[in-house]
Amino acid sequence: MPEPRSMAAIVGWGMYVPERVVTNEDLAQMMDTSDEWIRTRTGIERRHWAPDHQATASMAIEAGRQALEVADADPLDIGLILLATMTPDYGTPSTACLVQSGLGAVHAGAVDLNAGCSGFVYALTLAHAAIASGQEEMVLVIGADTMTRIVDRQDRSTAVLFGDGAGAVLLRASDGGAGVLATILGADGSGADLLKVPAGGSALPASAESLAAREHYLTMDGHQVFRFATRVLPRVIERVAERAGLEIGDIDWIIPHQANARILEATARRLRLDLARFYTNIQEYGNTSAASVPIALCEAVRKGHVIPGQILVLAGFGAGLTWAAAAVRWGPGARKRRAPFYRRWWRWMLYRWAAAHSVGRRLSRRLCASKPLASLLCRLRRRPQ
Ligand code: UT7
Repeated sequence: MPEPRSMAAIVGWGMYVPERVVTNEDLAQMMDTSDEWIRTRTGIERRHWAPDHQATASMAIEAGRQALEVADADPLDIGLILLATMTPDYGTPSTACLVQSGLGAVHAGAVDLNAGCSGFVYALTLAHAAIASGQEEMVLVIGADTMTRIVDRQDRSTAVLFGDGAGAVLLRASDGGAGVLATILGADGSGADLLKVPAGGSALPASAESLAAREHYLTMDGHQVFRFATRVLPRVIERVAERAGLEIGDIDWIIPHQANARILEATARRLRLDLARFYTNIQEYGNTSAASVPIALCEAVRKGHVIPGQILVLAGFGAGLTWAAAAVRWGPGARKRRAPFYRRWWRWMLYRWAAAHSVGRRLSRRLCASKPLASLLCRLRRRPQ
């Protein structure tokens, strides 16, 4: 078991969004809305929608592979995969297990976590704790959601807000000064009804009646959630800065959950911070739920906005109700050059092997379960030498 370390450094990052872009004008053709309403009330201009054959795991795998590539890390070295999502591929098994298999991360534990749109920062906090305690050396943290599967296209007040996508970071134990400095988690379950998918769980299993009542879709009290967000976001940013021993003015970038541009404006006003310090990409992706913070982080890094030594605060809020923030000192992170050819080839081979291995194991389990084969094996075993 590795020694307890003080820091968990972000050494890799990645993101994936589906190809299909749906503009506000496209939505105005489908429902009673307008580009003007969506743009002025939310800041959203476009979002990406997954095709029917794509679900959360496949987007998460893409983002995870990119994070491994950036860090030039081996999937076999991952000790834990934490996947934040509220749109898992299945009720069970966890989507994290599908990702573990898809990455060939055969030494990793894997688990899903549902904290709504705060999920990624929750997962980052747990990953940081696992590394700081010495339990794990390398943890892959992913936020991924296929919101279009749970959004009711007949409800214009939510249908225009959400998009699909995934973002990931790879955390590695580090003795350097860069990494997660402090984290804060919070929840208020009394607000559970404000953002909810009523049916499909043990409280209200899916039935013909629940389908007819459209209760398997997301419902949201937009006003209440807006008020909650503008109250909690400035507070959680202040508190995490304080816990990290920082002044608000020390923060170079706030990477917030992208739910509504007006929430970010209100937060900036309350913190007396320049809005330019809030990284915003809601115009391009809409609200991608648990994926929004890692997608924003990945994009900010790729565009060169985030540089080593800077202080970032990642902050989320959402269903539960939940909120979370993490203060991070950005490190040198990725290698300057592309990983050597043979390392990239090794990962490529591993992904192919992982896919074949998964199919092979499924097949052998099925064969062993088949009666004729089992009785043949039994007879062979009993045959006298
Ligand atoms: O990630 C999870 C966290 N989620 C959030 O943070 C979301 C927080 N809430 C919000 O961002 C905002 O409350 C919304 C964007 C959801 C709604 O904005 P709003 O300014 O609170 O609008 P509203 O609900 O007060 O609706 C104003 C009007 C209503 O019409 P009337 O009753 O005034 O005639 C709505 O019916 O806008 C109407 N409306 C729309 N009109 C055109 C609602 N949705 C639409 C639409 N297009 N898509």
